[in-house]
Amino acid sequence: MFKKKTTSSVTEEAVMAALSTVMDPELHQDLVSLGMIRDVEIDNNDVTFTIVLTTPSCPLKGVMQKDAERALSPIPGMGSVTIKWDSNVRADSRIGGQLGKHFRNTIAISSGKGGVGKTTVSVNLAILLAQDGARVGLLDADILGPNVPMMMGIGQMPPPRNQKLIPAERFGVKVISMAFMVKPDQPLIWRGAMLHSAINQLLTDVEWGELDYLIIDLPPGTGDVQLTLAQILPLTGSVVVTQPMKVAAADALRGLKMFEKLDVPILGIVENMSGDLFGTGAGTALAESESVPYFGTIPLQTAVRVGGDDGEPIAVADPKSEAAVALREVAGKVAARVSVLAMQKKTPSFIPIEMVG
Ligand SMILES: Nc1ncnc2c1ncn2[C@@H]1O[C@H](COP(=O)(O)OP(=O)(O)OP(=O)(O)O)[C@@H](O)[C@H]1O
Ligand SMILES: [Mg+2]
Repeated sequence: MFKKKTTSSVTEEAVMAALSTVMDPELHQDLVSLGMIRDVEIDNNDVTFTIVLTTPSCPLKGVMQKDAERALSPIPGMGSVTIKWDSNVRADSRIGGQLGKHFRNTIAISSGKGGVGKTTVSVNLAILLAQDGARVGLLDADILGPNVPMMMGIGQMPPPRNQKLIPAERFGVKVISMAFMVKPDQPLIWRGAMLHSAINQLLTDVEWGELDYLIIDLPPGTGDVQLTLAQILPLTGSVVVTQPMKVAAADALRGLKMFEKLDVPILGIVENMSGDLFGTGAGTALAESESVPYFGTIPLQTAVRVGGDDGEPIAVADPKSEAAVALREVAGKVAARVSVLAMQKKTPSFIPIEMVG
């Protein structure tokens, strides 16, 4: 039977009004005010539009999709709804000058304790964010004991160009490490000033391009490298890695307190190597006692160690493994928290004195 084609009764105004009731679940503002809705097209009552996320790793895409569909459905005559996704990672407004051109956000992976899995978390996080579509760099700031190239399976970096170092690239991540510049058996014995200048060079003399996230793998402890980084770069924040034991959490706490002193926000806590051997729980306890987010629990699994030794991190070697799934969840939460911080910095929490009364 012939059915008369109706002209669109659905208008862009109605669509935008409906979408202005949909909240970003992390940022707690509506999608329209946040400028996240783009390219609304209405064709015979079928609606297509793009949601521009603040990170391609957004863990709550599904929630936003459902909420948007629910908000649009009461519009009279509403046809189908097609949502396209895009992202534009907000920049940390405190990173200025030349460094601000390269790095929208800088994320340090830290712990007061050695051997807890900082490098493992750094490489996997970088890979997972890049897999989602973000532009990611990985800086091996463990100048005296660089492990990133081995874990990423990278032997060397390309030759310099125009007096700039060119980062090596693997799994979609740009990587710089001191290991590219010294022989494996050549120990570096450097004092603070030399560490400072090495870190400075790795940040400024490298053709980084424009990155959404620079992940920084830190050496253990609370020493010169941490101090230098906080001085040169406003760090967007630090992810603190702890093992599940109480003693490990005590060391992690020292690292956390140092960053607080340096005015570096603590993004959250990751517990690594959880399971029968080391137990579980110190990470959540630390997050609770320090009132910071808990990002997740990564199990102790042989495949994680093998992935590190073979230069094929677990995120690529076995993406469905329990550890890789846990790391993916951590990556989403880190990215979401960075978005929230970028948003909060834009909205001053104080009222300027002259505006009162
Ligand atoms: N969840 C895990 N399961 C099994 N092995 C792991 C896990 N996490 C890390 N490892 C292994 O433990 C060792 C130490 O990890 P890693 O080098 O990442 O720690 P780190 O904190 O960076 O150490 P350092 O303080 O020396 O820099 C590595 O061999 C790594 O492959
Ligand atoms: Mg390390």
